[in-house]
Amino acid sequence: MMGWLSELWRGGTAVIEPATLRDAPGLAALHGASFHRGWGESEFETMLTERNTLVHRLRIGRKIIGFAVSRMAADEAEILSIAIAASHRGRGLSRDLLLTHLGHLAGRGVRTVFLEVEENNQPARRLYERAGFGIAGRRERYYRQASGEQLNALLMRRDLS
Ligand SMILES: CC(C)(COP(=O)(O)OP(=O)(O)OC[C@H]1O[C@@H](n2cnc3c(N)ncnc32)[C@H](O)[C@@H]1OP(=O)(O)O)[C@@H](O)C(=O)NCCC(=O)NCCS
Repeated sequence: MMGWLSELWRGGTAVIEPATLRDAPGLAALHGASFHRGWGESEFETMLTERNTLVHRLRIGRKIIGFAVSRMAADEAEILSIAIAASHRGRGLSRDLLLTHLGHLAGRGVRTVFLEVEENNQPARRLYERAGFGIAGRRERYYRQASGEQLNALLMRRDLS
């Protein structure tokens, strides 16, 4: 509620909707600003045209300030990426985005959702735990940083329906 109120105060309500091909540049910019290894515009264009990939955008006015991407296979899906623009973090917006995204996955027949998260990524872990995901496994030294540091990944899972 606080997130919604503060956006209203800033002159716009957050809207979650399917992303379109025209969003590729904005999504790539947001991804690049949020992750060490950013996805380019053409990677987003490919994902936006693939039938097994679901992409939602979080928009305030004309500005895209968040996205969620997942890939479906039969009745399973994997959340590949979710991010909120740094300027808009800390207001719980990711929760609405994730829950809406999960609702659409359920609507497409998905029954189990997986994701990987870096073990020390507390905001992301908290987001997923609050959205009903549980730890299903741990992968040692899964992510390699630019510095050479290797970080562990947690595999998380949630059953839908
Ligand atoms: C993960 C992300 C989407 C969360 O977005 P957000 O809506 O701004 O999330 P919030 O800041 O509201 O935080 C989510 C939860 O983490 C908690 N949290 C935030 N920072 C924290 C910290 N440093 N330590 C512990 N908990 C923290 C918040 O209190 C909140 O928990 P609550 O719901 O119990 O209050 C956002 O941080 C992001 O885009 N990060 C970069 C990309 C990324 O890492 N994506 C996930 C990859 S798997």
